[in-house]
Amino acid sequence: MFESLTIPSPKRNVRFQTGWEGFFPYYAGFPESFAEAILSTADVSTHSVILDPWNGSGTTTYVASSRGIASIGIDLNPAMIIVAKARLLPPSEADSIQPLGREILKSAVEDKQPIESTDPLTCWFSTNTARSLRSIERSIQRHLLGPFTLTSEAINLDHLSCLAATNYVALFSVCRELTKRYRSTNPTWLRRPKANESKVRSRQASIERRFTSKLCSMAEALSTRSNATSSEQTVSELRRADTSVSILLDDSIDLILTSPPYCTRIDYTAATRIELAVLDPLLNETDDTLSRQMTGTTKIAGHHVEAAASWGSTCSVFLNSVKVHPSKASSGYYYKTHLDYFDKMSRSLANSAKALRAGGAAIIVVQDSYYKDVHNDLPTIISEMALAQNLKLKRREDFYISRSMSGLNPRARAYGRRPGAIESVLCLEKC
Ligand SMILES: C[S@@+](CC[C@H](N)C(=O)[O-])C[C@H]1O[C@@H](n2cnc3c(N)ncnc32)[C@H](O)[C@@H]1O
Repeated sequence: MFESLTIPSPKRNVRFQTGWEGFFPYYAGFPESFAEAILSTADVSTHSVILDPWNGSGTTTYVASSRGIASIGIDLNPAMIIVAKARLLPPSEADSIQPLGREILKSAVEDKQPIESTDPLTCWFSTNTARSLRSIERSIQRHLLGPFTLTSEAINLDHLSCLAATNYVALFSVCRELTKRYRSTNPTWLRRPKANESKVRSRQASIERRFTSKLCSMAEALSTRSNATSSEQTVSELRRADTSVSILLDDSIDLILTSPPYCTRIDYTAATRIELAVLDPLLNETDDTLSRQMTGTTKIAGHHVEAAASWGSTCSVFLNSVKVHPSKASSGYYYKTHLDYFDKMSRSLANSAKALRAGGAAIIVVQDSYYKDVHNDLPTIISEMALAQNLKLKRREDFYISRSMSGLNPRARAYGRRPGAIESVLCLEKC
């Protein structure tokens, strides 16, 4: 089943991200060209259903939808659900983007509500700038969100329209541009200004210009999308959920295409800090709660986790090497955070396997890394974990990545690690 599959490198190259794809940059994603090659050569048809249990910026759901294939994308991060939703906006909406944007700005200017001192936007922006940004966010809410989306407790992101999501993405992008000076070479890191550092100031008119210009380029890119035809008839469902808890679909999926969070100590919520600050009034949980739930969190779980034999021998040897490592906190903090990662990963794999029909395929992109000088062979660990869930490895392709997250650690060389990382594409079949 996998012999005829074309498997290009899953490495994302930002230089090649242009047009509509260019509006959804995500350091952790695989490129559209990769998902395109897989879905066009895999054994799927327009009657199939594709699942991405860690959907991120929605590359899988977008490519499935543009090929006329139904898909379900799950992610825990509300910001990523919005990004993936916006990406699904059909080209027939291209002409609505700018007139709607003008209405949103007109009503934002009339909004005289002061900014609350606890508003997370004030962390990076001066009071007036934060107020201007918040008034646009409130205006998006007034124009495009209603009782179907906003329940009495919080927002139901599964119901958000692609048009509303597009306006949020334009606002995210304005905030990202304005906070550029707080970013470092680590793509996941947006630092908070120091106490003596000035915050970002931008006039309301300039913010409006940036927002309008973003929407204008998005409308242009959307209208020239080459694969514009099929997505309007195709069902793509985006769900905000924790895949380590449940996926709720048994034997209903024909193919899984995904890249799970890597074990590289990335805080996936820190990467979207500014987006989460924009969404703050809509969410009923803090960044901290969200970050603790994430697979790969750098925070220690509140409950006791124990290693399980079903995680496989490679995982067991790796965990033991972390536990007995002589460096500080290895047997405590680092061991516990790795346990948490593998615990959530094995639960997610079990839930994903349950969702897959017998004979269905799972294509998983995963990267190796290091703990200090100890190699974390995540592709092998995931293959062994998957086998315990009746997912049998049928093909594996390895690609060398010269610039990896684990290589960003300045001590990487001192530990004698080989530079870069191996990104593997695992092709598994449900027996
Ligand atoms: C490597 S990224 C996926 C990138 C995606 N393939 C793309 O092209 O954008 C992993 C995603 O898993 C999500 N995630 C982490 N823990 C999760 C969990 N327990 N349940 C669901 N999603 C989770 C993160 O928010 C992140 O978006």
